[in-house]
Amino acid sequence: MMRAAKDQKTMTAPSLTVRIQRSPATSAQTDTFDVPAHDHQTVLDVVSWVQQNADPTLTYRFACRVGMCGSCAMMVNGVPRWTCRTNVNKVVENGTIDIAPLRNFPVIKDLAVDMDPFFDKWTAAEGQHHGSRTRDEDIAPVDPDSPDRAQADAGIECINCSVCYAACDTVAGNADYLGPAALQRAWTLLNDARDSDRNGVLDAVSGSGGCHNCHSMGSCTAYCPVGLDPMSAIAGLKRATMRRAWGKS
Ligand code: SF4
Ligand code: SF4
Ligand code: FES
Repeated sequence: MMRAAKDQKTMTAPSLTVRIQRSPATSAQTDTFDVPAHDHQTVLDVVSWVQQNADPTLTYRFACRVGMCGSCAMMVNGVPRWTCRTNVNKVVENGTIDIAPLRNFPVIKDLAVDMDPFFDKWTAAEGQHHGSRTRDEDIAPVDPDSPDRAQADAGIECINCSVCYAACDTVAGNADYLGPAALQRAWTLLNDARDSDRNGVLDAVSGSGGCHNCHSMGSCTAYCPVGLDPMSAIAGLKRATMRRAWGKS
């Protein structure tokens, strides 16, 4: 028994090769780390191990670690993912993981990107509620069984992780494109009976960076980690803007 334990101690622990794209202000480079491998390890666990044990200057973001805050998204082997809910075993290739900052965003440092363009586009898409009642009035009733309510609910669980935005080739080619998350938010508001600026929302999503840029290939829907369907929301916006143009709504 004692001997087996001793032998176990001298065995080499399994490890992962983790390549992380670094981005100082002037140049990008890739650093490689050997990270101990464990069962049920997430990609965020791996990045955290590097920062805590190998390079304290590594910069990255996370908060909740349970798939709620949307702050931990990164490119993992070329695919945008929420890293706190991505198991290493599902993505590792030949014992190696490549980690990089999210595509389609300016990089601040290492794996931390500038989210301003993403949230600015929510504002540009009129993604904030336009109320019509004062705080002294009753809350407007919404029929829980109405088709509009179902369409509004379809995108309400968005966690703003920006995975869809990083996956979108149209965003990559057109910096003005509002992108799947902002447009899905506009669709949610358009179907919310309590929102009072339907025309404002339709104006916002009809412009040069609007919904008609979407080529409907569906990367946003394919990669959304919480199973939302921005592509269908954008299709709804296209129909709504066309109906208005034809004087049908
Ligand atoms: S379906 Fe539209 S929004 Fe979604 S990834 Fe493709 S172009 Fe972007
Ligand atoms: S639609 Fe999905 S992928 Fe896009 S920001 Fe929301 S939760 Fe993330
Ligand atoms: S850390 Fe919050 S979603 Fe990953």
